[in-house]
Amino acid sequence: MSRKPFYVTTPIYYVNDVPHIGHAYTTIAADVMTRYRRMCGFDTFFLTGTDEHGQKIQRAAAAKGLTAQELADRTVVNFQELWKALGVSNDDFIRTTEERHRKVVQYIFATLLAKGDIYKGSYEGWYCVPCETYVPESQMGEERTCPDCGRKLEMMTEESYFFRMSRYAEPLLAYYEANGEAILPKGRYNEILSFLRGGLRDQSISRTTISWGIPVPGDEKHVVYVWFDALINYLAAVGYPEENAPWKKYWPVVHHLVGKDIIRFHSVVWPAMLLALGVNPPKLVFAHGWWTVEGEKMSKSKGNVVDPFEMVELYGRDSFRYFLLREVPFGLDGDFSELALVQRRNADLANDLGNLLNRTLQMVERYCGGTIPAAGTETELERDLVELVAATRRDVDSCMDRYAFDEALKSIWILVGRGNKYIDDTMPWKLGKEENTERLGTVLNTLCRVLRTVAYLVAPFIPDSAARMVDQLGLDAEIIARGEGIPEWTEDLSGVSVHRGDILFPRIDLKEWEAAKAEREARKGMLPDPGDHEPEIEVEQFRNCEFRVASVLAVEPVPKADKLYKLELDLGYERRTIVSGIREFYAPEELVGRKIIVLCNLKPAKLRGVVSNGMLLAAETADGKGLALLTVDRDIAPGSRIH
Ligand code: MSP
Repeated sequence: MSRKPFYVTTPIYYVNDVPHIGHAYTTIAADVMTRYRRMCGFDTFFLTGTDEHGQKIQRAAAAKGLTAQELADRTVVNFQELWKALGVSNDDFIRTTEERHRKVVQYIFATLLAKGDIYKGSYEGWYCVPCETYVPESQMGEERTCPDCGRKLEMMTEESYFFRMSRYAEPLLAYYEANGEAILPKGRYNEILSFLRGGLRDQSISRTTISWGIPVPGDEKHVVYVWFDALINYLAAVGYPEENAPWKKYWPVVHHLVGKDIIRFHSVVWPAMLLALGVNPPKLVFAHGWWTVEGEKMSKSKGNVVDPFEMVELYGRDSFRYFLLREVPFGLDGDFSELALVQRRNADLANDLGNLLNRTLQMVERYCGGTIPAAGTETELERDLVELVAATRRDVDSCMDRYAFDEALKSIWILVGRGNKYIDDTMPWKLGKEENTERLGTVLNTLCRVLRTVAYLVAPFIPDSAARMVDQLGLDAEIIARGEGIPEWTEDLSGVSVHRGDILFPRIDLKEWEAAKAEREARKGMLPDPGDHEPEIEVEQFRNCEFRVASVLAVEPVPKADKLYKLELDLGYERRTIVSGIREFYAPEELVGRKIIVLCNLKPAKLRGVVSNGMLLAAETADGKGLALLTVDRDIAPGSRIH
């Protein structure tokens, strides 16, 4: 029997930044969905990748003194490594700088140009550089700021190619009216429909103001606009437009998972491009919500960006994956806090799930020599549990169809809870003492079968732990990944030898955790924030800086300036005065007699009325609260040159 295809994508991530929790979220969600479908026997294809062109990347690279390609080559590794660290099982990883992608973008551009769906015009407008979009007057903030990121817009005029998107408002509307589930959650669907009812404007899809992009075929002073370029990755990766390529099988079932901020690109621009090409719009665009961190918007300047690598290192990938999908419904915004993660881990994973496995296996070892016993006659208790197992499977299936990950997990945990309650109700330890082997066999056999089902159901979310669960139950750890579906209840387990291993999720002691977190944070505060690095320089530029050793002769405060000292220095060959902002860190007597390092050929500058003839060197902590002077580690004459 041929397997049903299922194709899922994440956005392709910009390479101007390191990956954070937002990137991890979509990718984990796509992974969970893929693993679930794969387990249920689907023929799955899971794509992620990186968006490497455009002004944003070009500027970020320039600021670091790199070419855009160099920046992309360096940053892409962070994403690829993160997916490994998170156990993400993507089938492909596409980079928009790859030849296979460029070819398809140029093909599509040329095809739509020939068809009249792309034409040349000129564009003038207010442009947001970080968001790579022109912003209409009606949407900009006061003082001409971007409605999305709040930053200042820039006026731009350029010759541009346009995509005739206006043609597709009606056909798209008709498509969505006939496919009420093509955008989820429903709120987003309604939002997009009312947007479409307002009609669509043609879209500028080329730039002459930047060079970092895919050249427009036949008119190479233009590069393709980064969004037009990026969206095409979804088709390029599966071999469009070749006849015998995977896209033929996968395209009709494609699901795009995206953040709510990029829903319009995916459910308006992209489907319009597809209609123009004569290709079906995506089967589903699902827009998930955004994470804040302890109630605040995540931002570099606040220093509260959650580093997924750190979370994996601290708590293990399964706890992190579980938390992200359990804590918040996939379509809604949510708040991340490490404390909440630790609490969920302790309550759900260590207590509920871990205990069910551990208690059961302990009893199989103690009362049955480690071999799962045969079941005897069922009672009402078993029948109820078996019914719940079936209901849970159905429920999880329907939740997964709706991307209701949190509900699926809640439903599984009801079963886990009932498993634990079943142990309390049946009291197997008592049956063991009474040597009631038949009843004991029924209870332990039932529990092992419940655990087997639970292991399968949680496997997409916490794959490592699920593999350990089946292994401890005496089954092959690889069994779930085979895609043969969840075993039926009637498939017996008696006679199988269990091997209880390490605890699945050791409990985290909250007191110890708090102390360790405080220490971690203190350490972080002391670590220098690398901030933006300076561009590379030639050795000549360094040689031009004249650093020398100077001896401090006298120090006095600069009047009306709390931070400044005036320092008299002996350079051996001359004396000079410099002004320096180190007053809050050193008393004058700590400085007099010290040998320090001074940049001597800096242009003189007047600070609070005093002319400063140079600058001393000091190291500073990221928060600006710590400072240490550079000095020499043995005696050397003032005026000595530093190389
Ligand atoms: N390159 C484009 C996508 C092109 S797809 C053809 C892009 N890249 S991105 O790296 O800026 O963002 C990728 C995703 O991260 C978006 O889906 C965005 O919603 C998501 N997130 C960024 N910050 C987020 C949170 N704080 N929380 C959840 N997701 C967030 O956009």
